[in-house]
Amino acid sequence: MSKFIIEGGAKLKGKVNISGFKNATLAIIPSTILCKDKCIIENIPMIEDVKVYKEILYSIGAEIEMIDENSMMVDTSNISEINILNELPRKIRGSYYMWGVGLGRFKHVSMPLPGGCAIGDRPFDYHIKGFEALGAKVVIGDDKITLDADRLIGAKIYLDFASVGATINIMMCAVYAEGITTIENAAKEPHIVDTANFLNAMGADIKGAGTDIIRINGVTELKGCTYGVIPDQIEAGTYMIAAAATQGDIIIDGIIPKHLEPITAKLIEMGMGIEEYGDSLRVYYKQKLVPVNVKTLPYPGFPTDLQQPMAVLLSSIEGNSIIEESIYEDRFKYIQELKKMGADIEVNGRIAHIKGKEHLCGSTVKAMDLRAGAALIVAGLVSKGITEITDIHHMDRGYENIENKFMNLGANIKRIKD
Ligand code: EPU
Repeated sequence: MSKFIIEGGAKLKGKVNISGFKNATLAIIPSTILCKDKCIIENIPMIEDVKVYKEILYSIGAEIEMIDENSMMVDTSNISEINILNELPRKIRGSYYMWGVGLGRFKHVSMPLPGGCAIGDRPFDYHIKGFEALGAKVVIGDDKITLDADRLIGAKIYLDFASVGATINIMMCAVYAEGITTIENAAKEPHIVDTANFLNAMGADIKGAGTDIIRINGVTELKGCTYGVIPDQIEAGTYMIAAAATQGDIIIDGIIPKHLEPITAKLIEMGMGIEEYGDSLRVYYKQKLVPVNVKTLPYPGFPTDLQQPMAVLLSSIEGNSIIEESIYEDRFKYIQELKKMGADIEVNGRIAHIKGKEHLCGSTVKAMDLRAGAALIVAGLVSKGITEITDIHHMDRGYENIENKFMNLGANIKRIKD
């Protein structure tokens, strides 16, 4: 297993180009199954989760051709069913999108249950309630899920919680449902809008993505298209937080600044300077930072996926702060690793009380999941001495060229291959 070795102390400087959005790509790639035609998808991040999705599509008969490093052609016309016997879906959470697209196109799906980061219970009940409302029958057993429908008929679906996965999955399935489907209390994350835009580019009729109510008017056919994935809000936020933690001055390039407002607002409240230029942001240290309280919320609130790097930033500035994790019940496990680096954090249920100090100290720590891993890199950058991070395959699942991007910003980080 590879590991990262980081020597702390460098202030990040320079420019970082942001890759395509992991969580949008993981919805857009399977969406190509809905059209029996060729699609070209651009700005795809070359990360491990995307490679797994490519393998899943290959395994059911799709033709995939890389056009360049970040663009690929997907032709799903030869797929005749979704009946997956291999273990690939267990490797990623986003394999659940095969349910919505498979029901939509074939009215039948059979495959292993998804995997993903261990950050809580992560049930699927909203997805299933949505599919059932559209007329599907869902059976879960022996780590396997089977979904069937004779007909899909549009319905009014209210989500108890604005779940990202359920909103996208129901939207995908409803593209081919007869009549109108309405999703109320829909999630509003940028990748909901990106997936809806992709589906519409193929000929779907979806309105309201990005608001609480999404209306899908069923169609009978989709056609191929060329589409570019939006920039990764979470990757951009990670580098913004790293710039603040290292008292740096960096340009985050190739982004949609609006998607970063929850992070921008918190960093400004802490005392960071932020300048916006069209599709880039300058994030720069200008004065001693002050602690803030953070509560993770669905978009446009502060994203849960940046809770961990934010905890590192707050641990490395003097003063007391509180983080409340309202999305996942078990996303504080990484704090035991941060404590090895000298962080003073006490967790009480969904609340973390942080007593910040000027420096953390280098140690040997283990990445527990994707975002926890990113947080440990930030911790290594603000620590005195050397930090060794093991289990870095988690970061490779979701961050493209992470060590090169940090190195280009002046960080002392290297990957050691065992
Ligand atoms: N939930 C249910 N029932 C459901 C669905 C969700 O109770 O049927 C609960 C979850 O347990 C969780 C909350 O609702 O407590 C939010 O879950 P949501 O469905 O919104 O999340 P997700 O679709 O499982 C996606 C991202 C996550 C990101 C969340 C929130 C993908 C593949 N994953 O997960 O990304 O944290 O939305 O924004 O898109 C990551 O990138 O590191 C990551 C974990």
